[in-house]
Amino acid sequence: MNQELILAMEKVFADTYLMYFKTHSYHWNVEGPNHPQYHHFLEMIYTEVYGVVDTIAEHIRALDAYAPYNLSKVISHSMVTEDEVPDIDARSRMQNLLDTNNLVLASLHMAYDAADKATELGVANFIQDRMIAHQKHGWMLKATLK
Ligand SMILES: [Fe+2]
Repeated sequence: MNQELILAMEKVFADTYLMYFKTHSYHWNVEGPNHPQYHHFLEMIYTEVYGVVDTIAEHIRALDAYAPYNLSKVISHSMVTEDEVPDIDARSRMQNLLDTNNLVLASLHMAYDAADKATELGVANFIQDRMIAHQKHGWMLKATLK
């Protein structure tokens, strides 16, 4: 059992899960003249991100640890901050998601290093794919802020 890698993957799970939830809540609550575009853009992101939650948890199981089972503990593993109010302007939401996406990328880098050190090449390969996906999310979020 590689505790460093398991902890790093729990952090990847937590940041990914919170990014998923934040993006879906923005999809529901975003307002303004470009609502239809934001609504669809956010759906594209949360669908992609939610699509890997199961795989991250199953990688943790395959590393011989239990998958996340307690949402409070998941939140405590993440640096992603939760919103205190629902009525945020669309631009601030994009900036918040870009910051959140950067936290996910930082967790992925940590997990990649731990997987590489443990010669867990399958996990490392999966994490590389997630880096590519989140780099793309970052590009699109940055583009909406210009
Ligand atoms: Fe929807």
